[in-house]
Amino acid sequence: MVGSEGATDESGTSGSGDSSRPRVLIAAELEALLPEDPIPGHELVWIEARDPTPEGEYVAFISLLRRRLGEREFEGLPKLKVLAQCAVGYDNIDLEAAARRGIVVTNTPDVLTESTADLTWALILAVARRLREGREMVAGGAWKGWGPTQLLGLELKGAVLGIVGAGRIGQAVARRAVGFGMNILYADQERRLELESATGASPRGLPDLLPASDVVTVHVPSTPSTRGLFNRERFGQMKPGALFINTARGDLVDETALLAALDEGRLGGAGLDVFTREPDVPPELANHPKVFALPHIGSATTHTRRGMAELAVRNARAVLAGKDPVTPVSTGTR
Ligand code: GLV
Repeated sequence: MVGSEGATDESGTSGSGDSSRPRVLIAAELEALLPEDPIPGHELVWIEARDPTPEGEYVAFISLLRRRLGEREFEGLPKLKVLAQCAVGYDNIDLEAAARRGIVVTNTPDVLTESTADLTWALILAVARRLREGREMVAGGAWKGWGPTQLLGLELKGAVLGIVGAGRIGQAVARRAVGFGMNILYADQERRLELESATGASPRGLPDLLPASDVVTVHVPSTPSTRGLFNRERFGQMKPGALFINTARGDLVDETALLAALDEGRLGGAGLDVFTREPDVPPELANHPKVFALPHIGSATTHTRRGMAELAVRNARAVLAGKDPVTPVSTGTR
């Protein structure tokens, strides 16, 4: 492995065993995305996703979003200065617990904006044009030839796209919508004047956006106030037959309510890249003919994933060198 000779210590992680250098914990899956010796002067200890978080005198941790990191884990990492998450979302991290221990937390915004917006659009198109049903028809041999009323979908030109959360990714989704000739609404805590002038988007409160949108796409982070945002009531407010797209976080959605809305025909379809209990996707959702489901690949291009890994490393290096992190979430002070 890069920066290691593959020795395994008691925690099951691997490192070079050179204890004279400060040790950095790093998710093993990042190895393929990083150059040789990404943090010079440090011993890298690669941790597999299935392994529990080790304890020890690690000065930095380059982590992935599947690992929960809070008080219990930090207790075993008393020397940790920086937790550099390789993801834009950081809902797996207890920020207050990190701040109590003076740990700087960083994430990887910007570098994944365009790829995630692209995947959002892949889902919008897939659901609007019923690609799942079409593919299954062809693959299953059920296609009997061209028909004028076969698999009729939603015409995007002139339709209304409702963007819930107009941060970086929501705005990149809006820019693409201009090319498709859609009318754009957005719901956000802030007015986004640049977005409005660049795309013609109009601000709306959620109660006004939902009934007016043919496609609703979600781009808010998972926080205590957004978890479960899309519940029975919100799906009930959506335009009958509207499409629902989620490339943000699964726990923004009550999946039971989503299924009911699809089954009752209140929603016309859903494109989902994220789920509440990944990787467990409720089979009723995964197999639903109106659902196009993907395994959380919003940012999965080689370019973006390299950019994320490199940014996470730059953040760790900056803090270890006593400098300001490049993209901090929190600075370790209360
Ligand atoms: C992916 O979901 C991320 O937060 O980067």
